[in-house]
Amino acid sequence: MKILVVYGSPHQKGSSYLLANEFIKGVQENHHEVTVFDVAHHHIAPCLGCDHCGMNGPCIQNDDMSQLRKDMLDHDMIVFVTPLYYFGISAQLKAAIDRIYSFTMELSSMHKKTAFICAAWNSSQGTMDAVKMHYEALLDYMHFQDVGSILATGCGTPSMTLRSPFMEKAYQLGKSIQ
Ligand SMILES: Cc1cc2nc3c(=O)[nH]c(=O)nc-3n(C[C@H](O)[C@H](O)[C@H](O)COP(=O)(O)O)c2cc1C
Repeated sequence: MKILVVYGSPHQKGSSYLLANEFIKGVQENHHEVTVFDVAHHHIAPCLGCDHCGMNGPCIQNDDMSQLRKDMLDHDMIVFVTPLYYFGISAQLKAAIDRIYSFTMELSSMHKKTAFICAAWNSSQGTMDAVKMHYEALLDYMHFQDVGSILATGCGTPSMTLRSPFMEKAYQLGKSIQ
């Protein structure tokens, strides 16, 4: 299977990166092919809402989203990776998700497999509730098939993350993918 990891943190070696890497280690042991696309270090402008695409056509903006669009359509599975920012996904990842608008029809008809990895500082109850609901709404709307989520609370820094049980959970999620 071809797996695309869409990495949404500005920290190149941060908490969500460490978790995504463990996930990748697991999937590579089963010989899946992995591509990483780091949205925070590419130029992906927000959707203009111009509706030129009609949700099923070319986007009038010419930036790195053209490559991510090709990658999303070409891979069997998409893994969304993000830090938790004010109970939601990072703005960098949100911009990329909003730009799916121009190929929503095509992408949603493909029933892609997806997974979700999110790192947060807090570990109090409810920390991940809003972001979990958002991901679930996206699954439903885009006809994605969820393979699993790592909602990594108490992972505010790389050292907190390395000591957390979520490293092993991310690796096991990767290993579980057939
Ligand atoms: C702008 C911003 C907003 C944040 N909002 C939250 C939040 O709502 N809840 C939380 O637990 N942590 C929050 N954090 C902490 C990060 O989610 C946390 O440090 C995470 O480990 C960062 O992951 P990264 O290293 O992969 O970027 C926030 C951090 C920033 C910079």
